[in-house]
Amino acid sequence: MKYWKAGIFIFCAAITIFISNFSAAGSDKAAGADISAAGQDIPSKSEFVGMDTCAMCHEKIAKDFKRSEHSRIVAVSKKEGQACEACHGPGSSHVDAETKAQKHATIINPGKNPEACYKCHLDKKGEFSLQYHHPVPEGKMSCTDCHDPHGEDGVKPGTLSSLYGKNEACFKCHKDQRGPFVYEHEALREGCAICHNAHGSINQKMLIERDANLCLKCHFQANFTSGGFIGDRSHTTSVPVGPCFSGGCHTAVHGSNYNDHLRL
Ligand code: HEC
Ligand code: HEC
Ligand code: HEC
Ligand code: HEC
Ligand code: HEC
Ligand code: HEC
Ligand code: HEC
Repeated sequence: MKYWKAGIFIFCAAITIFISNFSAAGSDKAAGADISAAGQDIPSKSEFVGMDTCAMCHEKIAKDFKRSEHSRIVAVSKKEGQACEACHGPGSSHVDAETKAQKHATIINPGKNPEACYKCHLDKKGEFSLQYHHPVPEGKMSCTDCHDPHGEDGVKPGTLSSLYGKNEACFKCHKDQRGPFVYEHEALREGCAICHNAHGSINQKMLIERDANLCLKCHFQANFTSGGFIGDRSHTTSVPVGPCFSGGCHTAVHGSNYNDHLRL
């Protein structure tokens, strides 16, 4: 008798789980469809035409694109769109359009709306929703302020050989950090992203750590006595005062013209 009841219970539970799984899968599909529309109306009858067609009119972009990281993405089925159309959406209406205005109205431009990028980089949407972020969600900036969608190097402009080359994308807007400084902080040679998450962070100024740990990543020095040596000087009494950069000590963390210990 008891076994019989338990059997029914398990059967019902299994059905419930089956149904809820089924409907969850269904709603995922629906969400996918919304995202691929990328918040921009392109004619629903548009179909994918493939990169060779785009190359007929956008020759230079198609040529550059062959060397980009994104050109290696091969979608599972033609339905999802490949190469150009993975970001720009199905292009047949755009190809057929006659006037320039029609051309613009029939293709997605992800420079104006990052949804086309979030389709594959959903984690970046999360980073941009953290408290301190570049104003991409507010529409004041776009992914393409820092990234070249067609070129060989994803992060603009891609020359990694020098301090200025590597951080050029940032210096366009943040001239104060550019220097040149009499006393440079060599950390900047590693790139701004050593200390900042340029997408967003839970910490002020988009720092990857809120406290001395940011600096101790590179400046930790094992000490023999009880001291806590950093550089060639004991920091035992300094570190408890506050973060190295805002505790009143190394206030010129990007470089200084006055003091070799990076003070203003
Ligand atoms: C028959 C020629 C032709 C073909 C083929 C073509 N385009 Fe275009 N495309 C144009 C013209 C013309 C413009 C408008 C340029 C202008 O305003 O200066 C344009 C503009 C664009 C824009 C900018 C739209 C905007 O609003 O900023 C994108 C993106 C674009 N094309 C992508 C594509 C993609 C992807 C393909 C392949 C699916 C493609 N094009 C195929 C001619 C073409
Ligand atoms: C990774 C996503 C992505 C892929 C893949 C991609 N594009 Fe783009 N495309 C963009 C973004 C983002 C912009 C907006 C650039 C801006 O605002 O500066 C853009 C802009 C354009 C434009 C108009 C502006 C311009 O630079 O002239 C054309 C035309 C274009 N793309 C064509 C193509 C073609 C052709 C391909 C394939 C060979 C392609 N795109 C592949 C993301 C992409
Ligand atoms: C169809 C899926 C897809 C779309 C859409 C897409 N990406 Fe990507 N992206 C990828 C994949 C896959 C990689 C390479 C694998 C990886 O490292 O994540 C990549 C790599 C990148 C990189 C690193 C490139 C490098 O040179 O190291 C950047 C930056 C990037 N994407 C930005 C964008 C931006 C901006 C957009 C929108 C304009 C976009 N992506 C749209 C799939 C996509
Ligand atoms: C303020 C400049 C800036 C903006 C705006 C920006 N990025 Fe980035 N992004 C960077 C930098 C810098 C890196 C390299 C980080 C590193 O070296 O650790 C990067 C790395 C990436 C990467 C590859 C490495 C990774 O973390 O997966 C992807 C993908 C990417 N960004 C996507 C995007 C997308 C999508 C957008 C728009 C929604 C965007 N980015 C907007 C600066 C930016
Ligand atoms: C197109 C212009 C632009 C580019 C390129 C740019 N930024 Fe910014 N940045 C801004 C704006 C605008 C703000 C202010 C955001 C706000 O007040 O909401 C900002 C804010 C910041 C802040 C926080 C400043 C504060 O006082 O809170 C840091 C740190 C930062 N950016 C670093 C970077 C780094 C690193 C790069 C390169 C990977 C970069 N930015 C590229 C425009 C830009
Ligand atoms: C060694 C770590 C480090 C590196 C590398 C670094 N920053 Fe910073 N940055 C900081 C710290 C720490 C602050 C916060 C200073 C404060 O709160 O007083 C900051 C603050 C900022 C601010 C806000 C304005 C200000 O000065 O307080 C901007 C903008 C900024 N950084 C841009 C950049 C850019 C652009 C680069 C690359 C050229 C870069 N940072 C590299 C650590 C770093
Ligand atoms: C990516 C590694 C790295 C990070 C992170 C880093 N630094 Fe540096 N820093 C260096 C290097 C390399 C030098 C030059 C060599 C040296 O003096 O140790 C340097 C030099 C300095 C100097 C000058 C030391 C002297 O004796 O002349 C100070 C001060 C300094 N850093 C403070 C900071 C502060 C504060 C932070 C955190 C906001 C920080 N650093 C984060 C790599 C880093």
